[in-house]
Amino acid sequence: MNNHSELFWQHYAISRLDRTALLNQEPSVLWFTGLSGAGKTTLANCLAKRLYDGGLLAYVLDGDNLRHGLNRDLDFSVAARHENVRRMAEVASLMYDAGLITLAACISPFKAERDFARSLVPAGKFVEVFVDTPLSLCEQRDNKGLYRRARAGEIVNFTGIDSPFERPVEPEITINTTGRSPGQCIDTIMDYLSRHDLIA
Ligand code: PPS
Ligand code: MG
Repeated sequence: MNNHSELFWQHYAISRLDRTALLNQEPSVLWFTGLSGAGKTTLANCLAKRLYDGGLLAYVLDGDNLRHGLNRDLDFSVAARHENVRRMAEVASLMYDAGLITLAACISPFKAERDFARSLVPAGKFVEVFVDTPLSLCEQRDNKGLYRRARAGEIVNFTGIDSPFERPVEPEITINTTGRSPGQCIDTIMDYLSRHDLIA
């Protein structure tokens, strides 16, 4: 732990407001949480494309991808997941400060870390999106074959099988993907963003 008495906060010449004026958009953090295979990555990517097509700059922070670099030292133990999500939250906060519509897509199974991520951005700018796809459907989809391997005991600490997922209590948006196309789910999110003045 750093000794803060030896650290000095440095102020930058260009502020977030300067950047948002240049980009002509309102930054926000959309935090997609849900089981493996729920559709977090798919929805975050579809949303990034929809925003881009409308002239808005978003950036996807995907748990899988960050674990290839920044978080490559972390496994799927409870302690490592806490640290994984803490880092994701800090990066999301930096991207928010950069002026981007930041789309974080990670399981983030624990309420405490999701609340921590929320605490790093101003009220109203954090949107928790619970991708509420039932375990049975995630397991049926099993796009990566991970559920099969977890059931076979080849992977331990698998979310929903032998590692917990704490359901969000009051997410801003809950998406049940059952029987709905990604486009329809994105419509719901776009509607929320526009009603809350997060997009024009
Ligand atoms: S977490 O819980 O937020 O730290 O997880 P995250 O960083 O989002 O990484 C989840 C992706 O890692 C793959 N994977 C696993 N997921 C859950 N449990 C275990 N044990 C596991 N092992 C590997 C999997 O591809 C997850 O991606 P998604 O998109 O969620 O399926
Ligand atoms: Mg994913």
